[in-house]
Amino acid sequence: MTQNDPKTPRADQFQGDREAFQVASGNTMKATVYTQYGSPDVLQLKEVAKPTPQDNEVLVQVHAASVNAADWHLMRGTPFLARLVNGLQKPKNTKLGADVAGRVEAIGRNVTQFQVGDDVFGCLPLHELGSFAEYVCAHEDAVALKPAKMTFEQAAAVPLAAFTALQGLRDKGQIQLGQKVLINGASGGVGTAAVQIAKSFGTEVDFRMQHAECRHGALDWRRPCH
Ligand SMILES: NC(=O)c1ccc[n+]([C@@H]2O[C@H](COP(=O)([O-])OP(=O)(O)OC[C@H]3O[C@@H](n4cnc5c(N)ncnc54)[C@H](OP(=O)(O)O)[C@@H]3O)[C@@H](O)[C@H]2O)c1
Repeated sequence: MTQNDPKTPRADQFQGDREAFQVASGNTMKATVYTQYGSPDVLQLKEVAKPTPQDNEVLVQVHAASVNAADWHLMRGTPFLARLVNGLQKPKNTKLGADVAGRVEAIGRNVTQFQVGDDVFGCLPLHELGSFAEYVCAHEDAVALKPAKMTFEQAAAVPLAAFTALQGLRDKGQIQLGQKVLINGASGGVGTAAVQIAKSFGTEVDFRMQHAECRHGALDWRRPCH
């Protein structure tokens, strides 16, 4: 298609709908999207407009993403609080996925911390999810350089759950050396990070999950928790 080709879409034909114009122009990517709240059946793999980074954003080619409770709540629209974040009747942002690891493909003009080609990982804010896609834009403060010895998959598994654990233990819990700490739900995303963070603060950690109970790191799978 060329500028003079009558089949070439013109922006003015789309009445300001940038997404529709991009799709018609072929500037697209694959993404998992949803247009109504519900079970996983509402998720669809679709061809959508490839995002363009704003001045303070990086465009990341997604190599790995991970699923968190946040994705589940925002897909279901429950509890009701999730609808205050993303629309009362239907999702305003039709993409999901907070955690991401990938390679920077383009940067906005004010980005100072990253260059094209950097491997990064990070976590998108709840109202700007979108890592279940081939590309996603993230504010430069939402990502960090990926440690070289971590795979993309390992890096994508960390951010949201580990931040939750860190904020809970360090910031809210004011965890201190020598304390005794009980981690409930220790086998989950937040719990596995919480156990390690609590240990790193020099605390004595007991942990508990649905199917087993552990003390000081010794698993006893025969003792169900009730
Ligand atoms: N992931 C996040 O980024 C995030 C962020 C903010 C808040 N949260 C909240 O934090 C909580 C944990 O999230 P998560 O992502 O870690 O979930 P998860 O990966 O599903 O882990 C859930 C944990 O809870 C345990 N569990 C389930 N039912 C239990 C019961 N009846 N008694 C004792 N333990 C039980 C599970 O044990 P088994 O493995 O033995 O079943 C597992 O260890 C959720 O309430 C979530 O909404 C999560």
